[in-house]
Amino acid sequence: PPEPRRPPDPPEPRELPVRRTAPFDPPPELAALREESPLTRLRYPDGHLGWLVTGYATARAVLADPRFSARSEFKRVPVARPGTDPFYGAPALPGWLVDMDAPEHTRLRRRLAGAFTAHRMRSLEPRISAIVDRHLTAMARRGAPADLVADFALPVPSLVICELLGVPYEDRADFQRHSATLFSLDASADQAASAMRELDAYLTDLVLRGRRSAAAEGLLADLAGDADLTVGEIAGLGALLLSAGHETTAGSLSLGVFALLCHPAQLDRLTSGAVPPEAVVEELLRYLTIFQFGVPRTPSQDVTLAGRTLRAGESVTVCLPAANRDPGRFPDPDRLDVGRRATGHLAFGHGVHQCIGQNLARAEMRIAFPALFARFPGLRPAVPPAEVPLGGDMGFYGVHRLPVTW
Ligand code: HEM
Repeated sequence: PPEPRRPPDPPEPRELPVRRTAPFDPPPELAALREESPLTRLRYPDGHLGWLVTGYATARAVLADPRFSARSEFKRVPVARPGTDPFYGAPALPGWLVDMDAPEHTRLRRRLAGAFTAHRMRSLEPRISAIVDRHLTAMARRGAPADLVADFALPVPSLVICELLGVPYEDRADFQRHSATLFSLDASADQAASAMRELDAYLTDLVLRGRRSAAAEGLLADLAGDADLTVGEIAGLGALLLSAGHETTAGSLSLGVFALLCHPAQLDRLTSGAVPPEAVVEELLRYLTIFQFGVPRTPSQDVTLAGRTLRAGESVTVCLPAANRDPGRFPDPDRLDVGRRATGHLAFGHGVHQCIGQNLARAEMRIAFPALFARFPGLRPAVPPAEVPLGGDMGFYGVHRLPVTW
């Protein structure tokens, strides 16, 4: 008798696709994976098997579910740097709440939440405008061409986070270098660990000085007055805010300008006032989703989701760029359409770890884009777009240099 037909083998688990074929689009294989299932097997760089979430609804469900742990002891990342990653497989560094679960996470997050209210961010807006204007004036005075990253997209958020935290901006060369090393996949694990140690030593010194001086101002000084926090925790919170606070926004600003320059019809809708800057910012956040490799989680018990059972301890990567291009949530998702309602995107994550700096990042983008294009209406790339070096080698996608003229 003929042999019964075997059901087809499930597709071989694949590594995370990372090769982009277009500057603003995530690797195209991600869409194929999502069509297969919102949750597929993923092979991690060390060969072990875990899961990849590419569907919007499943991504949101994982991020909202307290059964998925964010503790660094269990975290595994789908794109490895050379050597053993110093941040994973070990308990969270003091203050690094992004690597903690409740109740430790809740305790630290509450300490920060008061400083990051929408109201406080609004009260920062005049300072952001002044910083933006000062850099645009300097760019105009020096004349074309300029590097939009070095002259604008990096210094603006660096200055803003320095003012918010009370970190001296004169020290930027060191902390910018350490943050860049932390987030660069080309840096070895040893280099990343040493950048972390230096950043921590620098912030510890600032916190200790803040504890001694009643005149110190800013968020770090406020935290330094909180007797329930250790110096190590405040320094760690400071290191996390300082590094996450400038590198990410710099990436969003530079890539956002580049995307608008490459989509002149969308840029027109911003500069003509047809679409308000808030909506443009939201759509750029969705379209660009700079956390390009997603965020790691681990189920602390068996969980059934999208028809699959994830076992306790298995590695999960929530691919934010794929979720934000899910046609089930955002029609025609690969089109930059600044007029769409992009709210609900996952560029800032979701759930208890959702980005605490999101209102600050939004305010910076909302102020910076219109001001830049109003000052330089003829702004355009000074090199062919294909020659703009993009940050595929960074945890956060961005632009290394963006030569512009006007
Ligand atoms: C968390 C994205 C700007 C501070 C996150 C997460 C994402 C994200 C996706 C969630 C990580 C996870 O769930 O594991 C972004 C993007 C930014 C941005 C796209 C810019 C456009 C900022 C800024 C700050 C900041 C300006 C600080 C001022 C933080 C902190 C966390 C976080 C402290 C951890 C929160 C927690 O674990 O409770 N961010 N971020 N981010 N972000 Fe941002």
